[in-house]
Amino acid sequence: MSMSALSAEGMKRAAARAALESVTHGMRLGLGTGSTAAHFVDLLGARVKDGLDVVCVPTSERTRAQAEGLGIALSTLDETPQLDLTVDGADEFDHALRLIKGGGGALLREKIVAAASTRMFVIADATKEVETLGAFPLPVEIDRFGARSTMLQIERMARGLGLIGPLMLREVAPAERFVTDGGHYIVDCAFGAIDDPETLAQRLSAIPGVVDHGLFIGLATAIFIAGAEGVRILGNISGDPL
Ligand code: 5RP
Repeated sequence: MSMSALSAEGMKRAAARAALESVTHGMRLGLGTGSTAAHFVDLLGARVKDGLDVVCVPTSERTRAQAEGLGIALSTLDETPQLDLTVDGADEFDHALRLIKGGGGALLREKIVAAASTRMFVIADATKEVETLGAFPLPVEIDRFGARSTMLQIERMARGLGLIGPLMLREVAPAERFVTDGGHYIVDCAFGAIDDPETLAQRLSAIPGVVDHGLFIGLATAIFIAGAEGVRILGNISGDPL
């Protein structure tokens, strides 16, 4: 099938398949969360069934369940604190390999696992590529204690950077808040274009109620982008972040 005939799911799978080519025997892998990462886990499961020997740390309970069901050997960061490669999706990425993540609510574990990995591959369809981050509302994970106060502090800090946009406490149903695997809330911040992601990242991290945020900077080493013309790679599959 030509790439132009592929559905959105087909493109996600093509990106996942391309990233899987770098996985070799004996690797310690981080497994991401989301619909694109799920394609990678599925394809990895087939390779494991054929005898590939890898050990994996999942970034969410959802991914853990999927990987377990496929017979993939799992570990924790306590048992396996250093990983060779993490493969994960993203909600947005720019040319500098900066990401917005957390649309699936797993950003904290995703960032911990990526930071424990020598390399991080992002797999995505071409719709996730942006000139400037921020069209996708930035997810921020906050402690449940003092949530409203933390939101107010985020709002004030962001206004100081010229970022004005509604902040929404994520819900799974009306009046039922989304709770992360770590027991926290997610605030989705519709700031629009984020011209200086580094400064926003630093200022968010300085707010005590903020557990972490969905800006991933200096973590991705390569991005596999599936589009109509095939899979393109941004960055370096064997090396350091840009
Ligand atoms: C989960 C994430 C996901 O990687 C991100 O939301 C992309 O998901 P999908 O592949 O379903 O578009 O950050 O927290």
